[in-house]
Amino acid sequence: MADSVAFAGESKAARYAELVPQIASLVDGEPDLIANLANVAAAVRQCLPIASWVGWYVRRGDELVLGPFQGNVACVRIKLGRGVCGTAAAERRTVIVDDVEQFPGHIACDAGSRSEIVVPVVRGGEVLAVLDVDSYELAAFDGDDAAGLARVVEVVSALAW
Ligand code: SME
Repeated sequence: MADSVAFAGESKAARYAELVPQIASLVDGEPDLIANLANVAAAVRQCLPIASWVGWYVRRGDELVLGPFQGNVACVRIKLGRGVCGTAAAERRTVIVDDVEQFPGHIACDAGSRSEIVVPVVRGGEVLAVLDVDSYELAAFDGDDAAGLARVVEVVSALAW
């Protein structure tokens, strides 16, 4: 496994192109899910300086439960269908929120958060978890993030859950 990650690209697309193989290397040969989710969250945070919080919510029945993350302490349990994370999980789709104050039901774990992207981890039609990335800047995330993070969760969906 790799001991570190590094990014030289200036565009987000270039940095995601660097991120995905480094994540594959980080998790290669490591069977422990918590360790892998923790390192992937850290790698995504290093890749995205605009992110204030990067982490996982793992599905447990009809709830999402906080998993490994980087950032301030956060809400522990989110019902499916609630907030941005619960919406992404319930609808099995990536949700980008340019301004969290305009998203009905947004769950404010950190009052400083302004925008957010949530990408579900789906395997065999089942939602295993979501990857949540927040920013203190408005409209921090776009289609490049959706595409890049989709590749990240694809690697993660193939892990032993
Ligand atoms: N804002 C999220 C809750 C999780 S925190 O941002 C870490 C939501 O509305 O689902």
